[in-house]
Amino acid sequence: MDYPNVIAIDGPAASGKTTVANLLAEKWGYLLFDTGVMYRAVTWLALEKGLSTKDEEAVSNLAQQVQIDVAPPSKDDGREYDVLADGMDVTWQIRDPRVDKKVSKVSAYREVRKALTEQQRRIGLQGKVIMVGRDIGTVVLPEADLKIFLDASVEERARRRYEQRIQRGGSADFDLILKSLTKRDHKDSTREIAPLRAAEDAVVINTDDLTVEEVVSRIEAIALKNKD
Ligand code: DC
Repeated sequence: MDYPNVIAIDGPAASGKTTVANLLAEKWGYLLFDTGVMYRAVTWLALEKGLSTKDEEAVSNLAQQVQIDVAPPSKDDGREYDVLADGMDVTWQIRDPRVDKKVSKVSAYREVRKALTEQQRRIGLQGKVIMVGRDIGTVVLPEADLKIFLDASVEERARRRYEQRIQRGGSADFDLILKSLTKRDHKDSTREIAPLRAAEDAVVINTDDLTVEEVVSRIEAIALKNKD
């Protein structure tokens, strides 16, 4: 089957972007690139090094120097891929609530975005890729062949994130997750540079009442129609 070459999937936190993109990428033999892991890795490294995330210069320097790699999963522990920061396996560390709390601040810095966007663009232009994020269709790859914007209510997204944490054997507090997502949505969509929003030519899908499989088949249908 012939699918569009470069696909952008944007949307708010926990809207199911990565789960859906992962299934599509496996089915189509495409590369999945979840750009959020880059902002998370920089944030985690800054915290690990004891930097204040308010120190824009120090955090920007870090983003310019760190080598972030995404590789096939090396362990069978529920991960979809390995995330390496300067060779260190940080796959689960970057999902820590401490990172959730600070990542929107870090990702609003101009130089951080510049450094990471350049790398993302290079990977995206290789083609046969599904790139996931907040600004892929608007800034990173405005020439993408297909743009999808996945949305869902904040309550539904909090519920999904809650279930995910419990399933992974961790503890979770629904109200805290809801509060954290609401704050992150606000910061991500009101920041000055590359805010979260649907590109004008994106297809918007609200996933509140859809299963993962339904979202996947809807995107497949759009992708095939788009090819004609
Ligand atoms: O998709 P995620 O929750 O893993 O993303 C983490 C944060 O990274 C998100 O709150 C905003 C930022 N981000 C961004 O600014 N631009 C992207 N393309 C991807 C993520």
